[in-house]
Amino acid sequence: MSSPTQSSPSTGCPVAHHAASAGRPVHVSARAAEFDPFGDGYQQDPPEYVRWAREQEPVFYSPKLGYWVVTRYDDIKAIFRDNITFSPSIALEKITPTGPEANAVLESYGYAMNRTLVNEDEPAHMPRRRLLMEPFTPEALKQHEPMVRRLTREYVDRFINDGRADLVDQILWEVPLTVALHFLGVPEEDMDLLRQYSIAHTVNTWGRPKPEEQVAVAHAVGNFWQLAGKILEKMRQDPDQPGWMQYGLRKQKTHPDVVTDSYLHSMMMAGIVAAHETTANASANAMKLLLQHPDAWREICEDPSLIPNAVEECLRHNGSVAAWRRLATRDTEIAGVPIPAGSKLLIVSASANHDERHFADADLFDIRRENASDQLTFGYGSHQCMGKNLARMEMQIFLEEFTRRLPHMRLADQVFTYVPNTSFRGPEHLWVEWDPSQNPERARPEILHLRQPVRVGEPSTHAMTRSVEVERVDAAAEGIVRITLRSLDGKPFPRWTPGAHIDVECGDTGLSRQYSLCGDPDDRHHLQIAVLREPESRGGSAWVHGAVQVGLRLRIRGPRTHFRFDESARRAIFVAGGIGITPISAMARRARDIGIDYELHYSGRSRACMALLAELQALHGERLRVYVSEEGVRNDFAALLAQADGDTQVYACGPQRMLDALKEACAHWPEDALRVEHFHSTLATLDPTKEQPFVVELKDSGMVINVPADQTLLAALRAANIDVQSDCEEGLCGSCEVAVLAGDIDHRDLVLTRAEREANTKMMSCCSRACGQRKIVLAL
Ligand code: FES
Repeated sequence: MSSPTQSSPSTGCPVAHHAASAGRPVHVSARAAEFDPFGDGYQQDPPEYVRWAREQEPVFYSPKLGYWVVTRYDDIKAIFRDNITFSPSIALEKITPTGPEANAVLESYGYAMNRTLVNEDEPAHMPRRRLLMEPFTPEALKQHEPMVRRLTREYVDRFINDGRADLVDQILWEVPLTVALHFLGVPEEDMDLLRQYSIAHTVNTWGRPKPEEQVAVAHAVGNFWQLAGKILEKMRQDPDQPGWMQYGLRKQKTHPDVVTDSYLHSMMMAGIVAAHETTANASANAMKLLLQHPDAWREICEDPSLIPNAVEECLRHNGSVAAWRRLATRDTEIAGVPIPAGSKLLIVSASANHDERHFADADLFDIRRENASDQLTFGYGSHQCMGKNLARMEMQIFLEEFTRRLPHMRLADQVFTYVPNTSFRGPEHLWVEWDPSQNPERARPEILHLRQPVRVGEPSTHAMTRSVEVERVDAAAEGIVRITLRSLDGKPFPRWTPGAHIDVECGDTGLSRQYSLCGDPDDRHHLQIAVLREPESRGGSAWVHGAVQVGLRLRIRGPRTHFRFDESARRAIFVAGGIGITPISAMARRARDIGIDYELHYSGRSRACMALLAELQALHGERLRVYVSEEGVRNDFAALLAQADGDTQVYACGPQRMLDALKEACAHWPEDALRVEHFHSTLATLDPTKEQPFVVELKDSGMVINVPADQTLLAALRAANIDVQSDCEEGLCGSCEVAVLAGDIDHRDLVLTRAEREANTKMMSCCSRACGQRKIVLAL
């Protein structure tokens, strides 16, 4: 049999170990033979430990573990998506089989852990998940926020004046445990016992206890099982109490075949672990990561609106679930590697989260990363973590409390240790220290009452700001200033493409204005905008002209690109009117740099009021045509665009009447030939009296969602706990795109081309809706 590692360029390994997967022999490379998820390398840093695999041998067989190991983002997402071929049934199976003595101990307690939502196959899984989902929706979770805030504050109160704390022992374990107990409806008593039991459960299921430890672990797990049973019995006496378990008991009355006794007992135990341990570990990982990156820590202390995205980036960079398991139910292939039926898979989501193919600069910790929430720490599809939004809420509240009350906290010297296991990761202790005399609340007790709104659900990039400083202010033309901004920490700005803009917050006015970038995209340390003082302005441009000076600090959002330049076009015609030259100048510069045939047409009232003129002349020479109305020269669009050309794109920015004239002149051109800058749109504004409800089937998640007339598809998806990114929420940016598998779409965005609309394979969920049969199927 050929090597199973076809995608590996390094299959010429001198060591051809032989092993067996599902009874068939496979070749094993030397690195695969060494793979040990219980060793220190994996425990300290799973994505780093399997970097070689991600790069050279993305799917390999581990003889030590007896599992196939999968390491790349797309492969892992595809496995999560297909829970028929890749059954979750082994997700809670003991990764290290226990010996007869430990098994006898477990049996003596009547231990009978059975299927829960985590490891349930279809067709049993989805009806149960649907039936029990409601308490996890963002709407239902809001009621828990005051309790999480109160607990967090009380726990911080206990050590705020000590100057030193182990955050794991003193808050990050117990608060998520208490929240989990509240959420489940379990009384708070026996917390210490539950804590010990839940560690034992982790070791029992995902760890490698030594033979002499196995018996002790088995006793703890047996006790945990019995305690879970007793608590459940107590709940049965009063099932109308609040709590997810009571909710399950009530549902059992109407759906006894879906919510069975065996399920409830297993879920009672697994639920405590799932709801608390993952959040405790994720919070400890997040704090460790942030304190190891003092710039990021300082930024979220100064601007707490960055916290929701910082949480996503922490979950991506160092989440609490490193790997999950699946069982191949038929002969299949992953990344071209044949996988026999019966094979067990370890899917290393921590590795997927560091896959360069999906996350640019994947090892970089970037709290403004736009696609951080694509992380697979919560899994994906029909088995995605139901409690993900409760975890997000807790993490946001912890970070908010710490950044507000202990911004001067730093990591103490320590060696981090982890409970050895394949899946759940978090440091056992996290020692931090600070100078209590510097606690901000001593001087400003009012900070105790500040609140940052929690974002229950996936964050929007819309709210992410960054602080910059004005480095230069130059007169660019009559009534136009050119402003050069630099980042405060000297770090490069994110890459931007021609046509991008930034939102500038206008001091304390509450206004923000969008300005296109007109500098050089290759200068990563500066951003440039040009701002015209609008004659009638009482707002943004008047503020910029009056208040902006060298040294002023500003807050901006972006850069973001809604006005995209198609670099594959053979030819481009750029048309700018007045201050509309700003995005167009960046595009023309790019066309010049990459050798696209182009011409640049620039119109203005007088030369004195035309920004960037000298620079454009120097850069574009003959390709620049200037039209000055005071000199009696106007651009004749009808003549310019007389000859339609399928290989040419026309890009335009300027006054509305210029854009209208261009549209008319382009009427005989292919529909997508003219592209204009849009800053605002009303496309996502719904008028419920004119809209129709529709139904969405989600293929990957196995759900059916009704979208009412007064709700966008994006809002309906989020209400159902489905993560979809968004930015503009106006149909301009393309970030809320979802893949369409079936159904007719009423496209209302300004992103897709006509050809893309006709292909009917994607839609913008913030504004577009179903038409025709009013039923669509999405790959979500
Ligand atoms: Fe920007 Fe939908 S969020 S197009």
